[in-house]
Amino acid sequence: MTVPFLDLKAQYEQIEKDIRREIDEVLKTTGFVLGPKVEAFENSMAELCGTKHCVAVNSGTAAVHSILWASDMPPGSGVIVPPNTFTATVEPVILAGHVPVFVDVEEEYYTLSPEKVRDYLESSGSPGNVVDPKSGATVRAILSVDLYGQPANNHALEEIADEYGLILLEDACQAHGAELSGRRAGSFGQAAAFSFYPGKNLGAFGEGGAVTTDSDQMAEKVRMIRDHGSREKYYYERIGHNYRMAAFQGAVLGVKIKHIKSWNYRRAEAAARYDQLLRDLPVKTPSVREGALHVFHLYTVHIPERDGLREYLSERGIASGLHYPIPLHLQKAYRHLGYEEGDFPVTEYNSVSNITLPIFPEITPEQQQEVADGIRGYFG
Ligand SMILES: Cc1ncc(COP(=O)(O)O)c(C=O)c1O
Repeated sequence: MTVPFLDLKAQYEQIEKDIRREIDEVLKTTGFVLGPKVEAFENSMAELCGTKHCVAVNSGTAAVHSILWASDMPPGSGVIVPPNTFTATVEPVILAGHVPVFVDVEEEYYTLSPEKVRDYLESSGSPGNVVDPKSGATVRAILSVDLYGQPANNHALEEIADEYGLILLEDACQAHGAELSGRRAGSFGQAAAFSFYPGKNLGAFGEGGAVTTDSDQMAEKVRMIRDHGSREKYYYERIGHNYRMAAFQGAVLGVKIKHIKSWNYRRAEAAARYDQLLRDLPVKTPSVREGALHVFHLYTVHIPERDGLREYLSERGIASGLHYPIPLHLQKAYRHLGYEEGDFPVTEYNSVSNITLPIFPEITPEQQQEVADGIRGYFG
């Protein structure tokens, strides 16, 4: 039996009728950009996140860029980011004219470590005046990442941000519907970014993204940024971009968001099944933070040397992924920031030890057994 990493066809079969009806309505109106389907989706997404606003954009990268841009920090500000994330967390920091400042992640959850952030801040200045020793940039923000489907320790990061007068932003691109102590991913800090890349827990039929926030001002700025800095046709108040969501994506996401809670529930069930199947094998299964609802966008396990296992599984038709194989501080694109191997040991350990197993709401117990048997076979 082969096991795919993700099976979007199985999902489409459940919702095909509704999707076709919604897409047909868009076709008939010929309104292909933003419009009522996107607005309806924004309302549902704000409700899911428990935020006052949701502003839909056309990718998660655009969403991260928009929240950084709308923060209106002076050019060249330092933004604390984890090196253990997808490049699209950090790339927009540079696109927005700022300086990424890497701080390592927690050993247990692989998300930005509040202790290490505090150590960094204490050794680089005092509240209201933190200067990054490497770049000379004044640190003004923390961009936390809710990784693999669970929130970072955003409560602790929020406290630190308040104490040091920093802006907290949240990259929730992997955590649709996740929670921490009753608060939804997307509701921490000043604003959050989501991606609706097709493989996400909530995926569009193409690219898509959104910003969630409780701030009227932030929402208004992001609405302007997504439409060339304009609030009113022919008037350009600031520099923006074309980050508008396509109407088709709003229509698709409006159908899919109705299923997100049950899909997330099934992912969590599948994760619990893997935990059981793998319990006597030498792999470290994912840890769930106390008080967190983990929505298992990814089920990432760790073994000291994962390449052999990945190859063994692949030969048996079992797909797997790597999140992430090369830490961002060691990528060519970020070399100019001056970091070196050894700077972030937890991220570096993760890069050689992580392997992500297939997980999606429709995965069957038989498919999961096949994956577990494959891992058992590898260990002999
Ligand atoms: C943590 C993180 N940030 C940002 C992004 C960027 O999203 P997109 O691919 O929709 O631009 C992603 C998506 O893969 C992500 O996982």
